[in-house]
Formats: sequence, C-alpha cells, structure tokens
Amino acid sequence: MNMDQVRYVDDAITSRHSVRAFLDTPVDTQTIKDILAVASRAPSGTNTQPWKVYVVTGKKRAEMIDRVCTAQVELFQKPELAQHYQETFAYYPETWISPFIDRRRENGWGLYGLLGIQKGEKDRMAAQQLRNFQLFDAPVALYFTVNKIMGIGAKMDISMMIQNVMIAAKARGLDTCPQAAWNHFHPIVLEVLGAPEDEDLVCAVALGYADPDHIVNTFITPREPVENFTVFVDE
Ligand SMILES: Cc1cc2nc3c(=O)[nH]c(=O)nc-3n(C[C@H](O)[C@H](O)[C@H](O)COP(=O)(O)O)c2cc1C
Repeated sequence: MNMDQVRYVDDAITSRHSVRAFLDTPVDTQTIKDILAVASRAPSGTNTQPWKVYVVTGKKRAEMIDRVCTAQVELFQKPELAQHYQETFAYYPETWISPFIDRRRENGWGLYGLLGIQKGEKDRMAAQQLRNFQLFDAPVALYFTVNKIMGIGAKMDISMMIQNVMIAAKARGLDTCPQAAWNHFHPIVLEVLGAPEDEDLVCAVALGYADPDHIVNTFITPREPVENFTVFVDE
C-alpha cells in the first residue's frame, strides 16, 4: 500500500462514529450487498464464518419498530417485565468498576448533555432510549445472528465482521450505529425476522445516510492514548 492508500484506510476507520440521526434516503440494495461481500472477508476461527445477517427495510422494518417500541414503552411503565427481556448473553458486567464505569458515565452524560437532557429528566431519557428502537430513523437495520451451537469465539468473529461492515459503509458515504439495545428484545426480533429456533441475536446495526444537521451527530467520543492501554513486552 502506498501512503495515500494508508490514509484512506485510516480515514475510513477514524471517521466512523456512531450516528444517532439518519435521513430517510434509501440505501441501494446493491450497495448493501457490496458492503456485506467486502465485510465477509473478516477472519473467523478456522474460517467457520459464523455470521448470518438479516437486512430489514420497508414494511418489515416498520413492523419491527412498532413491535419493539411497544414492548419498550410497556417496560418503562412496568419495570417488573424486565425478567421477560433478558439478554441471551451479558454484554455488561453485573458490577461496574473504574475506569469503565467512569467512561460509561462520561459517555452517557456527554450524549444527554448535547441533547439538553438534564439529570432526573426521566421521560426525556426514556424518549432518547426509545430512539434506539426507531433505528434513529435509519432506513436499514442489520440484525446479526449466530447459531446457538457456536461458542463465545463466534461472537468475536461476528464482531470483526460488524466492524468491517461499518468501515465499508463509511467508505461509501454511509453511516452506522451498532446497537446492542435490541438484544433485550431478542424473542420479538427473532420472531419478526422469522429466524429459526437455533439462532441467537448478537447485535443490530442501523445503516443509512447521516443527518448532517442533527446535533446528536456532532458527538465524538474520546479515546485513551496508546501508552495508557499498551504494554510493550520485551526482554
Ligand atoms: C457492540 C456495541 C453495541 C452498542 N450498542 C449501542 C446501542 O444500543 N445504542 C447506542 O446508541 N449506541 C450503542 N453503541 C455505540 C457506543 O456507545 C459507541 O460505540 C461508543 O460510545 C464509542 O463511540 P463511537 O462509536 O461514536 O466511536 C454500541 C457499540 C458497540 C460496539
């Protein structure tokens, strides 16, 4: 690769960020296929390629949003329903410790702050949380599933595939938001998808063209410098 090509790759990686307001501009099906074809060059343990992707648009998208938003609103009203909406695998720890909890809080309050949502404004927080299940208005939802027989390693493989999808999308002027929020509603999601019983939901990704005028899309998150998370082991 020459230096220009290096810069293109680096730009595609560093310019990706989670977009939480999309235009309703449709995404061409061939473009989605191209993105998935490129992304499927992701590595996977012994080349098992454990990913399966559902591309949801149109009426099915509307049905998905309607069913899951209804469930989420019901959950806000009756928190005891949470037992019915357990993730199949725990994304986050049961007990948080520093520095992770600090970063999580900084992230949450940074986003809410930008949207003018203050501490204690529960209804506005709930409305913002609900935006997840409206796909932040993205016209395309990608739901990644895995066969239940596969181990934890398959989720690593699928994560690499998802990152490739997000970068390949970025290179084509599209934006994304990875969304684990949907995992709580996996029974509904899998039913609407018509997925077979041996599949689990791993993650959703909203895909579309970013709304350049929405303030939420100005939210750029920090990263630790390399020396804070790297140990060069020598001698
Ligand atoms: C697996 C995964 C799941 C995520 N789930 C959600 C989600 O449900 N809703 C959301 O708004 N952001 C979600 N995010 C986005 C993160 O908040 C975001 O990646 C992080 O704050 C870093 O910001 P950036 O993506 O803009 O660089 C998720 C990210 C990952 C990697």
